[in-house]
Amino acid sequence: MMPDTPRLTPRDLTEMARARKRIAMVTAYDASSASLADRAGIDIVLVGDSAAMTMLGHESTIPVTLDEMLMLTRAVTRVVERAFVVADMPFGSYQPGEDEALRNAIRLVKEAGAGAVKLEGAGRTLTRIGSIVDAGIPVMGHVGLTPQSAALGEGYKARGRTAAEARRILDEARALERAGCFAIVLEAIPPAVAAHITEALKVPTIGIGAGPSCDGQVLVWHDLLGLTPGHVPRFVKPYADLKATIASALEAYVADVRSGSFPGAEHTYGMPEAELARFESMLKAKEARQTGDFEKPLREP
Ligand code: KIV
Repeated sequence: MMPDTPRLTPRDLTEMARARKRIAMVTAYDASSASLADRAGIDIVLVGDSAAMTMLGHESTIPVTLDEMLMLTRAVTRVVERAFVVADMPFGSYQPGEDEALRNAIRLVKEAGAGAVKLEGAGRTLTRIGSIVDAGIPVMGHVGLTPQSAALGEGYKARGRTAAEARRILDEARALERAGCFAIVLEAIPPAVAAHITEALKVPTIGIGAGPSCDGQVLVWHDLLGLTPGHVPRFVKPYADLKATIASALEAYVADVRSGSFPGAEHTYGMPEAELARFESMLKAKEARQTGDFEKPLREP
């Protein structure tokens, strides 16, 4: 059955950017979060490889596998009705070569229902992007701080803070656009650099730690909702403190279970008194038979 509102497409997102309507994107990795995001009016749900850290407890995005990304993406696409769903290609799923990159991108679209895939970096990634785009699969690019290479040695500091580095990132973004990306994530770069890149490109830019001039913004679900344990990057604005809310709810539950005040009568199922009396007399009769006290048939003859 078709949903009432069709899902957004890359073309819709381009039109939004042209009309200066900013694009709201967030990560989600499971059905209940994705459904909440969709109903709240989020335009793009990214099944990010940040799931490695937020959902699977790893220290970086490197260990998450394609099979894990397929499972998480399926959970999201099962419930999202309006938002465009982008799935991250995890580390190792596109680096080996164009054929493998294409095969894996096809799996994310065909087996998990993603509308597009996201790959990090330019350089060698460009040929992988080219072959995926040639197959008709929309691709989102990602430059600036790219978490996969950051974890593999480049570090998590901001990028593009020298003229030469800013120029390199602009050139990479242009190359991604030429390779066919329909949108490009700019991560952790100065706002002025992001503004020049946004101005230079026809495709929408989605910023994370890249200032207000981008065509859209993206945040990680756990950062946005105050669920991240430990360090939160400077560019995050938490819109709630769910960690505290959830912790106090769970502590209250533990206390109620210990004290016996949960469940209350309102959380239980009723039974007609006559049925209960009958049940209890059945038990008494059975007990009496076992102890040999008296013989009474369990059922009426
Ligand atoms: O995996 C992710 O969450 C991302 C965002 C930081 C854009 O790539």
